[in-house]
Amino acid sequence: MPATFDDIVNLSKRRGFVFQSSEIYGGLRSAYDYGPLGVLLLRNVKDEWWRSMVQMRDDVVGLDSAILQSREVWVASGHEAAFTDPLVECTNCNSRLRLDKLDDPDVCPSCGKRGTFTEAKQFNLMFRTHMGPVESAENMVYLRPETAQGIFINYENVRRTNRLKLPFGIAQVGKSFRNEITPGQFVFRTREFEQMEMEFFCHPSESNTWFEYWIEQRHDWYIDLGMSSDHLRIRPHDADELSHYSAGTVDVEFAFPWGWDELEGIANRTDFDLRQHSDHSGQDLRYFDQEANQRYYPHVIEPAAGATRTTFAFLMDAYHTEQVGEDTRTVLRLDHRLAPYKLAVLPLSKKPELIEPATRLAERLRNRYMLEMDITQAIGRRYRRQDEIGTPYCITYDFDSVDDDAVTVRDRDTMAQDRVSLDRLEAYLSERLS
Ligand code: GAP
Repeated sequence: MPATFDDIVNLSKRRGFVFQSSEIYGGLRSAYDYGPLGVLLLRNVKDEWWRSMVQMRDDVVGLDSAILQSREVWVASGHEAAFTDPLVECTNCNSRLRLDKLDDPDVCPSCGKRGTFTEAKQFNLMFRTHMGPVESAENMVYLRPETAQGIFINYENVRRTNRLKLPFGIAQVGKSFRNEITPGQFVFRTREFEQMEMEFFCHPSESNTWFEYWIEQRHDWYIDLGMSSDHLRIRPHDADELSHYSAGTVDVEFAFPWGWDELEGIANRTDFDLRQHSDHSGQDLRYFDQEANQRYYPHVIEPAAGATRTTFAFLMDAYHTEQVGEDTRTVLRLDHRLAPYKLAVLPLSKKPELIEPATRLAERLRNRYMLEMDITQAIGRRYRRQDEIGTPYCITYDFDSVDDDAVTVRDRDTMAQDRVSLDRLEAYLSERLS
């Protein structure tokens, strides 16, 4: 059975994937903390993105720019003037809502009254703070609402120091902040979140080719990591949806319980950003093409994904319940690369003759794999717990193990069990987990 929204929220809380931020003080809406399992899953999603976008390519390099940047960056990028959503307020119940997300622009979804909205005003989504002890207008800075601008303002630093020639990309993973009018749907839309963005700089005449190329690459990344193709689609933006910088955008969308919604946008940003930063900073950010003896602004193709949102989608996609005899089993069929724990080591009893060698085995395997050792409860319940958190293999150390130097390895998806001798265990696991 496919997952419902409540299944994922309940699992996240019960098993320690995601907690409400500041929960002991009543909770801070629209910010979340990632618990022991959530932080591993999120980290694996980001690592896989980095691996495919940076490590496996010779034309993309990485960057980690500051969250706090000069206010000028956001003036030049157009965010100060145009990074807004239309805000309306209901004069009956005082709800503040995003006009463009309402099913009926005349009816308040909170109280059901018609014609109670104030005139829409454009609300800027950037968070403000101050640098230094004085809270003055000159000291005001924004928390970045996207990681992308950190890449554009470092374009020349990166190109020069790494002697890069077009086409090449700069990739970055990090936190972004948006003062969303209507955050919600758990970690789908939050005010603090993580992005995985890459800016790919190319000759203007090649931008359409690279646009198509990156759409395909990015779609295939989700499929390669086990996301069901039935839950994924590519949707081109209509002209009236395009951001102020975009000449064309497609979204990679996931079938969430409330309908298709965005995981990632792939945009053709043309030369908008480099031109803007050249004009505002006075630095010439044009590229000098030695072979053609030409100076021009590169065009940019941007695949921009949400790390936290994508993690949520992988959780939804992997969640299954199935009947096993009289029992209902919940299993997270996560790709092995994404699973928080790759292994669980389960001594059959708490007796020292099993706990001690099982602990030594766990220490040996820890060197290579993120694992959990679990000594509580009956073995059946421990298997169910590992299924529910997506652990691909459970290794049971039993009374026979003491004599035959072998363990039982249970497969999460098939529930099949193999008896594997300890001297073959690493080879057995690396065949299946690499
Ligand atoms: N640099 C382009 C850019 O930021 P975007 O479509 O606004 O484009 C890219 O954001 C991705 O970041 C989105 O597809 C989404 O996955 C994620 N994202 C944006 N706002 C978010 C929010 N409030 N909460 C969680 N993820 C968000």
